[in-house]
Amino acid sequence: MIKTVFWKNNAVVLIDQNALPLVERQVVCSDYRGVIAAIRDLTVRGAPAIGVAAAMGAALGALALSQEPGEKFKKKFNALCDEIAAARPTARNLFWALERMKKHLNEVIRSGKRNPARELVREAKRICAEDIEINREMGRRGAALFSDGDHVLTHCNAGALATAGYGTALGVLRAAAAEGRKLHVYVDETRPVLQGARLTAWEMKKEKIPATLICDNMAGALMRQGKINKVIVGADRIAANGDAANKIGTYPLAVLARVHRIPFYIAAPVSTFDFSIKTGEDIPIEERQADEVTMFRGVVIAPKGVKVYNPAFDVTPARLITAMITERGVLTPPFPAAIARLQKGEK
Ligand code: MRU
Repeated sequence: MIKTVFWKNNAVVLIDQNALPLVERQVVCSDYRGVIAAIRDLTVRGAPAIGVAAAMGAALGALALSQEPGEKFKKKFNALCDEIAAARPTARNLFWALERMKKHLNEVIRSGKRNPARELVREAKRICAEDIEINREMGRRGAALFSDGDHVLTHCNAGALATAGYGTALGVLRAAAAEGRKLHVYVDETRPVLQGARLTAWEMKKEKIPATLICDNMAGALMRQGKINKVIVGADRIAANGDAANKIGTYPLAVLARVHRIPFYIAAPVSTFDFSIKTGEDIPIEERQADEVTMFRGVVIAPKGVKVYNPAFDVTPARLITAMITERGVLTPPFPAAIARLQKGEK
C-alpha cells in the first residue's frame, strides 16, 4: 500500500510528491518547521494528507517542548499549531486536525496524564490510522455508484497520495475495481501543478486500473462524444450548503457534466466539511506563486514580467453536484439538510 505520511523514529516521513513520478523518494521532517515547509511547497498535498501531516508536525513540536512546565507547554503548543495552520488556507482538514490536537491536549491536561507530548504523538498516529480506515469506508459506500464499463473522469489527485493512504475519489474507484467492476479512468492533467499527470496517472498504473491521461481542455469534447459517463473528484472544503472547493478546474467540469447529463460525484471525509461556513462564497481560496504558471517543470514558458493570476482552487455550487460520498453515507440533495444531519451525527 502507498503510505503517504507516517511516523517513524520521532520523525514524520513523507513521500516527496514534487519528485513523482520520475523519482520515488521520501522526505524526513524532524521538526515542525520542516512539516510547514513541506505543506507549503506541496511535498505533501491533498486535504486529508495535509491534515495528517499537520497533526504529526504538531506532535513533533510537542516533543521539543517536553521539558516545559504545564501552562507554558500548552501556550507554546497552541502557538506552534497556529503557525502550522498558516501553511495553506483552503483545505479544511488542516484546521480540523490541529483543532483535534489542541482539544486532545486539553483532555490530557484535565486527566492529569504525565507525558502530554507522548499522548499527542499517539493522537497524531491515531488521526493517520483513522484516515486510512475512513477512506476504505468511503470506498465501500461509494463503490456501488460505479458499474462495469464506466468511463470515469477525475481531476487533480484524490488518491492515496492525497490522504494517509487509499484515497477518497480514487479510493472509491479502487473499491469498485476490487469488487470486480471493469472501469476506465480519464485523468485530467490538472495544470498548473499537474497533480493528475504526475500523481493520479502514477497511482492508476500502480493499481493496474486502466487509465488515459488527457489535457484539461479535452474533457468537453470527450463528453460530447459520449466517452465519459461519470465524474468523481475530491474536495478541500465543503460549506454547510454543499458548495465544494476543489482543485482549480473542477467547477468547469461540473458545468460540462450538467450540460451532458453526466453524474458529478464528490468523495470527501466528514473532516472536509466546514459546518461554520454557510456557502462557498466564504471559503478562502489560496493564490499561489506566479512561476507555477509562467514555468513548466523548470522551463520558462511566458514572457518575463507578465501578469499572472493563479488561484489554486475553485468552488463548485451544490446544485451541480449529484451526490457526496462520505464515510457515513452517500449524501444526496437537498444538501443543506443532508449536511445538517451529518453535523448532528444522524448520518
Ligand atoms: O493543491 P493540492 O494538490 O493540495 O490540491 C488537492 C486537491 O484539490 C484535491 O482534489 C483535494 O485535496 C481532495 S484530495 C482527497
